[in-house]
Formats: sequence, C-alpha cells, structure tokens
Amino acid sequence: MEVIILPTAEEASQVAARLVARQMREKPASVLGLATGSTPCNLYAELARMHSAKGLDFSNVTTFNLDEYIGLDPAHPASYHRFMDENFFAHVNIPRERIHIPDGLARDVPAYCDAYEKAIHDAGGIDLQILGLGSDGHLGFNEPGSSLASRTRIKTLTERTRNDNARFFTGGQEVPHHVITMGLGTIIESRMCLLLAFGKAKAQAVAATVEGPVTASVPGSLLQFHPRAKVLLDAEAASSLTRAEYYKWVYQNKPTWQIDL
Ligand code: GLP
Repeated sequence: MEVIILPTAEEASQVAARLVARQMREKPASVLGLATGSTPCNLYAELARMHSAKGLDFSNVTTFNLDEYIGLDPAHPASYHRFMDENFFAHVNIPRERIHIPDGLARDVPAYCDAYEKAIHDAGGIDLQILGLGSDGHLGFNEPGSSLASRTRIKTLTERTRNDNARFFTGGQEVPHHVITMGLGTIIESRMCLLLAFGKAKAQAVAATVEGPVTASVPGSLLQFHPRAKVLLDAEAASSLTRAEYYKWVYQNKPTWQIDL
C-alpha cells in the first residue's frame, strides 16, 4: 500500500485525478471502476475540468460502478445512477453504452449480479478502481463481515451506513435496507486500486484499513493484499495513523525514476 497524505481533500483529489489521467493516457480504452459518495466529488470535478480544458478523452473508456440501492429507479434523486450522471457522466464523453451501474430494479437479482460480473470479465477486467471508505471500513457496500472473496451480490446495510447516507435522502424518505454491490473479491481483482478518504470521521476506519490486521471486520483492510493500492488522504483522515510521518517522508523523497506524477 502506498499511503499519500496531503493537507487537504482538494490536493489529494488532484493527485487522484492525475493518476486516472495517466492511466487513460497509457491505455485510452481503460476500464475504470467508479465510486459514489461525497469523497470522489472533487476528483470527478477535476477530471471533468481536464476533459474540457485539456481534452482528456473518455471516448474509449468503459466504466463499472461499485453499487446501487435496490428498489430505487435510476431517476430517483438519491440513486447512484443519478449521482453519477450529475457529478460525472454529464461532464465527460463516455459513450452511454459503455457505462455500467448495477440496476437497483433488477427482477432476478442473483442472475443480474452474475451478469454484472461477466460484463466486467468480458470488458477485460477493471484497470483502475476508485474507492471511498465507509466510516465502518466498508468498500462499495461490503459491510463488515463481508466475505473477503465475495462477488457482486445483494447486501443488507447496517444502521450506521443507513444513517451516514441519510443526508442524500430528503423529505423523510427511508434509506433502502438492501443494495447490490461488487464483492471484495471483485474489487481486489482490479489492476490498481485508488482509495480516497477525507475528514476526521474517517480517521479510525483509515487506521484500521492501513495499519490494522486484515479482517472481514474491516473490509478496507483487504487492500493490504493488493499489489498496487494507493491510499490518498487529507490530514484529518490520516490523523490516527501511527506511521504518518514515515508515509509523508516516503512520498516527499521518492527517487526521481519512481515519481509518477
Ligand atoms: C457509500 C458508498 C461507498 C462510499 C461510502 C462513503 O456507502 N456505497 O462506496 O465509499 O458511502 O461515502 P462518503 O464518501 O460520502 O463518505
């Protein structure tokens, strides 16, 4: 794991955007795994800026989103379909037919999840997976206790996650209990993982993910097994790490041949 700590979420998001852009320059037909939530918003805004100001071309890119609420129509204001359209897809040139987000209205959920896995496989696998981190350490919607080998499937949210995400549901609407999420086994197969976490509320989950034991109780900790996982943090999210000074020194003193940004 490479842990990159920058003072602010904005600065960390710029680094993340440069990493995504580099991936796309190296492989214009990249397959990107995408996340929702507040965390990647600055990253998506920066990628959209790179698209309009610098011509960063998404026309050959394929995307797979991590998750979606079961029972929400794509047009629902809190659906991840809507979130992705508003925060990213409306601002870049990814062909619609190459955008994949789990269908929260799928009638046969197990068959749908198998087909989602097959679509990822048929696209050649995910080159770069963007991830946020739940305050309980979840990745996608893989709540604590999720099998480290799990594939795309239905999950039941914890009350903590439902409360964390209630801010996206206005007018007294209930946060759904059930979701479709890529599994931890699906996520770990991505060729590169970029985990972003910002703010004090994530500090404990970040410490458990980066410096704790690998355990299904902290799904993020599975990334310790990934050969190319980068963790991008702001100062607050890094505040419970015991080796923070070391990670900062490593990042600031990379040999020139290793500097990739
Ligand atoms: C949701 C999403 C996750 C996301 C997490 C953190 O549960 N399913 O993919 O990482 O929220 O959200 P936020 O970035 O808003 O803190």
